[in-house]
Amino acid sequence: MSARPVIIDCDPGQDDAVALLLAFASPAEIEVLGVTTVAGNVPLEMTERNARRIRDLAGKGGLGVYAGCARPLERELVTAEHVHGKTGIDGARLPEPEGAPAPLHGVDFLIETLHAPEAAVTIAALGPLTNIAAALARSPEIKRGIGEIVLMGGAIGLGNVTPAAEFNIHVDPDAAQIVFTSGVKITMVGLDVTHKAIVTADRLGAIEAIGTPVSQAVSGMLAFAADRHRGRIGGMGSPLHDPCVIAYLLDPALFGGREAHVAIETESALTLGRTVVDWWGVTGKAPNATVIDGIDADGFFALLTERLARL
Ligand code: RIB
Ligand code: CA
Repeated sequence: MSARPVIIDCDPGQDDAVALLLAFASPAEIEVLGVTTVAGNVPLEMTERNARRIRDLAGKGGLGVYAGCARPLERELVTAEHVHGKTGIDGARLPEPEGAPAPLHGVDFLIETLHAPEAAVTIAALGPLTNIAAALARSPEIKRGIGEIVLMGGAIGLGNVTPAAEFNIHVDPDAAQIVFTSGVKITMVGLDVTHKAIVTADRLGAIEAIGTPVSQAVSGMLAFAADRHRGRIGGMGSPLHDPCVIAYLLDPALFGGREAHVAIETESALTLGRTVVDWWGVTGKAPNATVIDGIDADGFFALLTERLARL
């Protein structure tokens, strides 16, 4: 089977960085057409720089990284340095990226790549949905070029950045509204899944034991994230969010879920960015997403560890 063409939109962030590495380690299944970056965990300048640093770490120097939107469509930017550290990928000791940032804007890259691709492109969305929404709003015809959007975001249950909302959706709820009403095939990998993908000491140790520069960077980032996460969210341990999206592309049998209607709260200050998931179908509204709620966590970490060892 030929590799699936994928654009990864992200806001690195330690978990985005691990997701990028998992994709780079899987060329037989995933052809990364390019990486677009968005403001989220840290400001755009940092997410772009981090994406190129991770690209270079994986030896993918020729891959295009395109900085997109520096702020949400309509609101002020909310960042998360308290979680990810000042650089966004604290815990990794990586050199400055090679070369200069690409001149093409991330939204322009999305529109140009999705305008008439040879094969439908999958978008792996790992941050606020600003770039994707901006591309859809500017050029609705690109929907024909998108096979599906698999996104880390939202939650059936509790939020993380507020009691009601998950960070990526909360940062740009207006963008999420555009994406979830676009009619594009969506798979939503929310906190209900990623909070079951906990970086335990054993799982961290298995990655560390690979003993390569990549595994050293990953284990450093995950150890930093675990330290920052300690005591938060019920002391559950550090969830590994974004790599779940890439693992879904690699082995969907590791996950479970169902089709459901998902609405986005864009008005209420109290619940801004909440994904209202009609899990029981009580609204009678047609499903607009496949909502994932289950994961084989051991299988996920085994896949992640095996693939990271390939870089
Ligand atoms: O809520 C978790 C999500 O927000 C992850 O994508 C993390 O990287 C941050 O972007
Ligand atoms: Ca992210």
